Amino acid sequence: MSLTHRLPARLVLAFALAFTAATPAAADEFTAADVQRWQAQYEAVAQQGRALWTDGNLGKNGVACAQCHPNAANVHPETYPKFQTQLGRVVSLWEMVNWCLQNPLEGDKLAADDPKMVALLSYATWERRPASTEAAARGPPAAVSGRGPLPPPACRAAPP
Ligand code: HEC
Repeated sequence: MSLTHRLPARLVLAFALAFTAATPAAADEFTAADVQRWQAQYEAVAQQGRALWTDGNLGKNGVACAQCHPNAANVHPETYPKFQTQLGRVVSLWEMVNWCLQNPLEGDKLAADDPKMVALLSYATWERRPASTEAAARGPPAAVSGRGPLPPPACRAAPP
């Protein structure tokens, strides 16, 4: 008697599980066109970041990130979060970008979700993308080939 009462409940549970299992699978479906569109959006944001990175007006003293970090050199985005001595604690990459915005660039800090911050971070990561025919065509980064601008003294004093 109790079994016949429990059976429908089990069936309902089985159906519920089947439907909840099907939902994430549907969310995973995307086309090659989707991937292309997402990649294009990422590339566009990374290029906005490159423009900001080389812009002497991002801070307030005419200095650009690229003067000390040509091609986003020496920013090591993949090592974050980590302890950073300048801030005396474990920080995320955006907090270190703010340290440079406020100190070498003598400017204002940005919120973590400010589109400018997202663009700067996207560019730093974009420069770490796997080797591609495009990267090969561009040649080695300026810092490696010696074609980049001479970094200011503060930069040369930085540990590698
Ligand atoms: C005048 C030179 C100078 C300029 C300009 C400069 N930085 Fe830096 N940057 C430094 C120094 C010095 C450090 C500290 C190196 C260290 O201790 O890891 C640093 C560290 C960093 C780090 C952490 C690197 C690591 O290895 O963990 C990031 C990220 C960074 N800078 C981003 C930027 C961005 C973005 C800009 C522009 C908004 C910028 N920097 C402008 C000199 C500069």
